[in-house]
Amino acid sequence: PENGSLSIVVLGASGDLAKKKTFPALFNLYKQVRYLVKDKDASREQLEAVSKFLHLIKYVSGAYDSESDFRLLDKEISKHESLTKTAEGSSRRLFYLALPPSVYPSVSKMIKTSCMNKSDLGGWTRIVVEKPFGKDLESAEQLSTQIGGLFEEPQIYRIDHYLGKELVQNMLVLRFANRMFLPLWNRDNIANVQIVFKEDFGTDGRGGYFDQYGIIRDIIQNHLLQIFCLVAMEKPVSVRPEHIRDEKVKVLESVLPIKDDDIVLGQYEGYRDDPTVPDNSNTPTFASVILRVHNERWEGVPFILKAGKALDSRKADIRIQFKDVPGQKQGRNEFVIRLQPSEAMYMKLTVKQPGLEMSTVQSELDLSYRQRYQGVAIPEAYERLILDTIRGDQQHFVRRDELKASWEIFTPLLHKIDKGEFKSIPYKQGSRGPAEADKMLEKAGYVQTHGYIWIPPTL
Ligand code: BG6
Repeated sequence: PENGSLSIVVLGASGDLAKKKTFPALFNLYKQVRYLVKDKDASREQLEAVSKFLHLIKYVSGAYDSESDFRLLDKEISKHESLTKTAEGSSRRLFYLALPPSVYPSVSKMIKTSCMNKSDLGGWTRIVVEKPFGKDLESAEQLSTQIGGLFEEPQIYRIDHYLGKELVQNMLVLRFANRMFLPLWNRDNIANVQIVFKEDFGTDGRGGYFDQYGIIRDIIQNHLLQIFCLVAMEKPVSVRPEHIRDEKVKVLESVLPIKDDDIVLGQYEGYRDDPTVPDNSNTPTFASVILRVHNERWEGVPFILKAGKALDSRKADIRIQFKDVPGQKQGRNEFVIRLQPSEAMYMKLTVKQPGLEMSTVQSELDLSYRQRYQGVAIPEAYERLILDTIRGDQQHFVRRDELKASWEIFTPLLHKIDKGEFKSIPYKQGSRGPAEADKMLEKAGYVQTHGYIWIPPTL
């Protein structure tokens, strides 16, 4: 709805992230905004859309620390602005840093000195940054201070693409708009919570990057911890981004230091075959970590965050297991939110086995999105989030203090791993990960129902 020009500058345009995520998301947004074509449309129309989109792109090459190159970039943006600006139009400049974090400070400085919006008709300059935001608390804070010295918090969009997933965005609605959940969502009723991310492939050519970070920095400290916040936080004062993020910070600050007994690390066999991975690497490709929340709602309820590469399946879900019904042996109720693939929510219940017999069986109430919302296209996480940055909505982005609190939780553990004090247990590719993780889960009180499998409905 805003008048004026919009320039989206993707820095690192030739990189992996830009190719795989940023450009496809921009293209899809472009198609939707222009009502050009739907995915089902003929390939000729698709091609026309591609060609129109490509016409809008201008490639400017330069060095990340060269002021003159950034001045050149500014000139290009201004040229575009003078062509597209209407009389009352403002200038909006979005800088997407699809870059390694080591160059964030210099690039941010160059943007600040040479490329800011100068229109007196209004508008804005915003920057989008990706993880990894540092390697531990200290380096993250250092990065935050450097960027924070150049841009105001409302101009900085720290992206965590899990916050753009449909069922992650559904979490607060689900919890706070349904009477049914309000009295149940606490230590009186919930026995344990699992937040699980699995991939059935290894580090596939990203070994060099991955080995410096490991699965905790790659997945758990950001993606799974964000989901944890949405499951565990208190009801925000309002749905305003600041109120939501205030509550996320509070619950993060209520997490107790992680105990050694609450950690299992693993590394899949063959991980070190990657020539870019050192032969003696101890970097975990699997981790299961129990978080314990010290507050009235959650005291005593373990939150198990588990993530792994090269496992038996590809999925991400949230599994809330309820306590036993006294005298009932059939199995526990579970509420499962399947983030991907096949988005769904299902509730595991005990029912009478249909038929003449009076016996019980485990079944489910199933809300599978593909079936229930036929014909509805679920947008890609990056599409939604980029649109939010243009609209100026920070609800689904990570605030500086939230980032700090998340590093505070994991930094002591990460330092121990880096020092080699914690060993990664080898596991077979295509397995469930180290058996020790299942043992820990059982010890934490999770009761598995044998013989029950939820099958996503096929259309
Ligand atoms: C990225 C991680 O943030 O998320 C990758 O760096 C991981 O290691 C990816 O594969 C998973 O994202 P998605 O959306 O495919 O589940």
